[in-house]
Amino acid sequence: MGSSTHALVLLFSLLFIVRHELICGSYTDSNISCIESEREALIKLREGLKDGANRLSSWFGKDCCTWKGVGCSRKTGHVVELDLRNPIALDRDRLSHDDNYAAIFRSQSLGEGPIPDSLARLSSLIVLNLSRNSFGTSMPQFLLNMSNLASMDLSYNIFNGSIPRWLGDQVSLSVLKLTSNDFQGPIPRELCNLTQLTELDLSYNRLEGELPNSMKNLCNLRFKGVKSCMESVH
Ligand SMILES: *[C@@H]1O[C@H](CO)[C@@H](O)[C@H](O)[C@H]1NC(C)=O
Ligand SMILES: *[C@@H]1O[C@H](CO)[C@@H](O)[C@H](O)[C@H]1NC(C)=O
Ligand SMILES: *[C@@H]1O[C@H](CO)[C@@H](O)[C@H](O)[C@H]1NC(C)=O
Ligand SMILES: *[C@@H]1O[C@H](CO)[C@@H](O)[C@H](O)[C@H]1NC(C)=O
Ligand SMILES: *[C@@H]1O[C@H](CO)[C@@H](O)[C@H](O)[C@H]1NC(C)=O
Repeated sequence: MGSSTHALVLLFSLLFIVRHELICGSYTDSNISCIESEREALIKLREGLKDGANRLSSWFGKDCCTWKGVGCSRKTGHVVELDLRNPIALDRDRLSHDDNYAAIFRSQSLGEGPIPDSLARLSSLIVLNLSRNSFGTSMPQFLLNMSNLASMDLSYNIFNGSIPRWLGDQVSLSVLKLTSNDFQGPIPRELCNLTQLTELDLSYNRLEGELPNSMKNLCNLRFKGVKSCMESVH
């Protein structure tokens, strides 16, 4: 109880810090415009996405910090948040039975196979949300290039293969959501190295085996997601 309260406080303070940074980055008292190399990376990224619903229509012009889903740090001008979540709520039942809904859901989905590797050039990202798109195949190791990443949500995509061991090197992670993909096999021991984790959700995959013992000692961790992960294990 004590430790989960503690974890929540940590989580909220983290979100607060990130939000604070972003809200202050809303260009009221300074004219931050984005860093050119990151603008180019975002344009490359846009070109690599399927955007049937024209969700990225704001991704033109000089100042990428004003583009939808892109947040920049006021201090450094770097892109620190990328939120490309599919805005349509996922309803699996309707997805298989309601053609209209399925068409809308799919049209809003930006992914189609691998995440374009231009994403790796946004190396200052702190928050990444790619939830509910159709990004897939194995998790790309270039995500490690974002060494400040605190929150990564790849849930409801079609990533497969194993949860990579190198994910344990992304030690800045505080929130990690891999819910509802097609990951298989054991949960790698390396995840125990993510000592900043406050929230981990691995549910709805095809994982097997035990939760690594030392993971249970991660005192900051909120167990909700892990619990459902364990349920799917047993
Ligand atoms: C921001 O740009 C506007 C015009 O584009 C200018 O009037 C204003 O002084 C600038 N603000 C700062 C803080 O540079
Ligand atoms: C990412 O976006 C989804 C909506 O698709 C939302 O439910 C989720 O809370 C977001 N993840 C994080 C870590 O904020
Ligand atoms: C990783 O980020 C650096 C900038 O910090 C960039 O020069 C490099 O190209 C990136 N790596 C990849 C694989 O994009
Ligand atoms: C992952 O999905 C891709 C595309 O469907 C497929 O080609 C590949 O064999 C899958 N890999 C594994 C390990 O299941
Ligand atoms: C955790 O990281 C340390 C070095 O930082 C490494 O020696 C160790 O093997 C890692 N543990 C796991 C389980 O990966």
